[in-house]
Amino acid sequence: MLRQPLVAANWKMNGTLSENQGLISDIKSGLASDLSTEIVICPPYPYLPEIQRLLDGCGIQLGAQNVSEHESGAYTGEVSVSMLKDYGCTYVIVGHSERRNIYGESDHVVAEKFKMVVSCGMVPILCLGELLDEREAGITEEVVSRQLLEVINIAGIDSFENAVIAYEPVWAIGTGLTATPEQAEEVHAFIRLQLARHSDSIADRIKILYGGSVKADNAAELFSRADIDGGLIGGASLIATDFLTICQSTR
Ligand code: 13P
Repeated sequence: MLRQPLVAANWKMNGTLSENQGLISDIKSGLASDLSTEIVICPPYPYLPEIQRLLDGCGIQLGAQNVSEHESGAYTGEVSVSMLKDYGCTYVIVGHSERRNIYGESDHVVAEKFKMVVSCGMVPILCLGELLDEREAGITEEVVSRQLLEVINIAGIDSFENAVIAYEPVWAIGTGLTATPEQAEEVHAFIRLQLARHSDSIADRIKILYGGSVKADNAAELFSRADIDGGLIGGASLIATDFLTICQSTR
């Protein structure tokens, strides 16, 4: 199955109003007009309206980095799916390892968030990935399938119809230590196999992105693997030329 590649920028907690304007303008002007790759930019919450305005009509999609699992109400500091939708988000990252490990989001909460995003008609980018000690203990597959299964159990396999998965080994995030294309492909294929146990067609169609120190000089090799459909890019997405090279590397 030929899946349309996707490259998503996760800006994390970076940027300023004026830096963002320069970055978006450089990305827009450097983007090849015939690029068939889907591109998503996920800025911090406060910048969503501004980035929505800057991206208007250029074909790049807007995404958020997180969302509440609740619909509305007394949840100080939280942001709901309908608020994200109001500002033109079509994608929402859920279960990023920084949310899981720094803010203690459990598999269960991540699954509730995933379900909420789907119910609002947006596309969740579900992050899965093992810690360094889990990889060293040889339990990568166990960890990734536990994280995935919780979402399948809570949200149902059909909710993956319009979802994206990102495999992000935690030890490769922001460390410059990229998984080798072989290591990444092995886990991507494993994730697809787990999904196929529930639905062959979903397993076949779902995009699985790789994230973790994807750079301009290693993207093409990663993206050339059969089960790697694009990337979720942190640091390198803040540098227009690097991000553009990564986007072109999906060809
Ligand atoms: P880096 O590309 O900075 O390693 O971050 C990856 C990531 O966490 C994307 O969500």
